[in-house]
Amino acid sequence: MGDSLHTVTTLPTARQPGCPFDPPKELIQAREHGPISRFPFPDGHQGWLITGYDLVRSVLADPRFSSRRELMRHHPLVDYGDIEVPPAPPGEFLLMDEPQHGRYRRPLVGRFTVRRMRQLTERVERITADHLDAMEKAGPPADLVTAFARPIPSIVICELLGVPYEDRGRFQDQIDKFLGGEAGDEELIAAYTATQRYLAELVAAKRANPTDDVLSDLTDSDLTDEELRGMALILLSAGFDTTANMLALGAFALLSHPAQPAAWRADPALTDRAVEELLRYLSVAKTFMRTALEDVELGGRTIEAGTTVILSYNTANRDPERFADPHVLDLRRENGGHLAFGHGIHQCLGQQLARVEMRVAFPALLDRFPTLRLAVPAEEVGLRPETADIFGVKSLPVTWDA
Ligand code: HEM
Repeated sequence: MGDSLHTVTTLPTARQPGCPFDPPKELIQAREHGPISRFPFPDGHQGWLITGYDLVRSVLADPRFSSRRELMRHHPLVDYGDIEVPPAPPGEFLLMDEPQHGRYRRPLVGRFTVRRMRQLTERVERITADHLDAMEKAGPPADLVTAFARPIPSIVICELLGVPYEDRGRFQDQIDKFLGGEAGDEELIAAYTATQRYLAELVAAKRANPTDDVLSDLTDSDLTDEELRGMALILLSAGFDTTANMLALGAFALLSHPAQPAAWRADPALTDRAVEELLRYLSVAKTFMRTALEDVELGGRTIEAGTTVILSYNTANRDPERFADPHVLDLRRENGGHLAFGHGIHQCLGQQLARVEMRVAFPALLDRFPTLRLAVPAEEVGLRPETADIFGVKSLPVTWDA
């Protein structure tokens, strides 16, 4: 690590050809210079980029760094000039600080405990088996994204929240637009408006006719319709796209490292560790931002009040000072403490649910299709752009010996 201050001038928009699972080389190089780099935002704001594990973790645990949307006026890739950004709408607690954040998160915590999520395991097993049956029946080849990675988390989050699965077309494609990194501004506004319209109908339906699900339970509180819409939006988007991309990119990573699934098939007791390693190695939720509320000393630098910092979770999870041979996928690794679910007050609310889904779905897929392999050369698998909030593959053609 050098003492000189490294500057990253633009965020990379693509990964290195042939390295779909590794963070872009510019970010890896930035971390090699040191855990914190200067980052001049396109609108001229002098911000910071944090790539080292310890510093990312300490920012996430520090209440002097805010998640409030209205403070994050600077876009890492686009110069929007001197714009006013409104606060997050009521209920969208990912982009709030305490005490507002806790007011929305608290009523949800009990619904996402380890115990509650374990109770869901059987249902996740059934949903997974149904999709593998359908894949097997249709015969090879298949697109693992549409046959496996998207429907499983989609059905699970719909059932948990009480969203009729037939309605998924009304919000899933829109959510893809928010998080997929390829939609233009007008498309994003249209997607947001359509989703809000759907959520308004949904909340009204739950109030009129409560059923046994999270959203209906929440209607029995002092939360307003607008707040419920915001909370439902966060849960639906965070609960679906992240897990869907972990399942698809995870399958791609496994099929690209055949010794790893072979080890997993041979030793089912590897499952918990294997899932944590895939989370660390892939870090599909790659970067988040925070804004300093006051001057903060960090890594020998002063982050001045009002300054925006970009936190790179994926380079933090590849930090050699924390993980030996960090760029190696090793399902046997004992690597507690990765940051794939974040850390601190915003640490992923749905992490136990995501774990149940992955612990069920990956082994079931590997068991059902012992000869599963890519149906196209790895270079032809279509990746989301690096600008996507959640990284992943667009489709994953696979085949097997029927
Ligand atoms: C493998 C899948 C998943 C990954 C990698 C993931 C990752 C993350 C990360 C990194 C954060 C923290 C964001 C920050 O630091 O600002 C987060 C927050 C969150 N996640 Fe997940 N997530 C996953 C699955 C889920 C699921 C299944 C749900 C279901 C409800 C969910 C709900 C949430 C919510 C509500 C938050 C906001 C928490 C808060 O602000 O207090 N996530 N997730």
